[in-house]
Order: sequence, then C-alpha cells, then structure tokens
Amino acid sequence: MFTQVPLPYAYDALEPYIDALTVETHYAKHHAAYTTNFNKAVEMAGLQDKDVIEILANLDSVSDPAVRTALRNNGGGFYNHNLYFAQLSPNPANQPSGKLAEKINSTFGSFDNLKAELIRLALGQFGSGWAWLSANKNGDLMISSSPNQDNPISEKTGYIPILALDVWEHAYYLKYKNLRADYVKSLFNLIDWNTVSENYNRIIR
Ligand SMILES: [Fe+2]
Repeated sequence: MFTQVPLPYAYDALEPYIDALTVETHYAKHHAAYTTNFNKAVEMAGLQDKDVIEILANLDSVSDPAVRTALRNNGGGFYNHNLYFAQLSPNPANQPSGKLAEKINSTFGSFDNLKAELIRLALGQFGSGWAWLSANKNGDLMISSSPNQDNPISEKTGYIPILALDVWEHAYYLKYKNLRADYVKSLFNLIDWNTVSENYNRIIR
C-alpha cells in the first residue's frame, strides 16, 4: 500500500508564497486522489511487491493498456507530489551544499544559472507538467521537463528526479491565476536545498 509522504508543515506554513487553500487542496485532494488511484491500479496489475520507481521504469511490462495508463498517470502523480511536498519548507536552506553544490557548479556554471534554466523549462512546458533536476547513479545532473504526470523515470532516461517543479495550474491558480512565472520564481523561496542534497546523495550512494 502506497501512502502520501506526511506533510512536514501546516497548510498555511508556506504563506505568502503558496496560500493555505492551495496547499490543502493540492495535498489532501489532488495528491490523495493520485495515491488512491495508484493503489487501485497496482492491485489490478498485481504489482504490490514492487516499489514505485520499479513500476514507473517498467510500464512496458504491463500488458493491459488501461492499467498501464493508470499506473503511468497516477503512479507519476503519487511519486511526483511526494517529491514536491517533501522538498518545500517554510525555513529552507536556500543554497545547495557539499557534493551537489560542486556538481551544480561544474555542470551549469553556477547555482544562478541552474535556477534560470529550471525557470525557463518550467515556463516553457506547454500545458500541465513538471520541470526537473535529476541525477543518475554516477552523480551526473540533468534538467528536463515532462508533460502531465510523466517524469524522467517513466521516460526511461536513467535519471531520477531530485527536485520537482509542479507547473499544473492546480499548484498555483488560486493565488497566481495565469501568472505561472510569478509562482515558479516564488517557489525558490520555499525549496529546501538540504532536502534536494539528501535526494542527490541517496541516488549516488
Ligand atoms: Fe500537482
């Protein structure tokens, strides 16, 4: 049984950057629904003994197209939102450190360049989707964007996301309306780079 990551802050803790009603609706309705529907699809596919990364990386092995689509959309929604909510904090470390900081500098030139590239990808994603910073087992970094609830795992890139920028309208529309750029920029006031570094260290270990 897959369960949502516990929200490590109150619904109103991300104010003024993300309003309480958006956090509550996003977590307790949208993320909860993805989780419920993922569990149903996992049961239909008989994949209860697999972890979510294994399921998303091997969607081709599911023969029923409807179940495969349900796993892709709801498994992605479950996994992507766990990453998204866990990385946010009302008191974030606003700079990466250690190995991740070094790799960001050698790959992107600077932390500011990385942020600019992530914002560019998040704004360039047409319609609903995500922008990502991902790593592979060698410690290499990749930035990318995905439509819907796809991610670098279901896209079979060999990379695992360590930072998730949700650009579905449900993530910002109540407060920001059509101003996705303002939302994405404000997200960087909430991203805890200690958590992102932990995600990185876990993959390269
Ligand atoms: Fe979302």
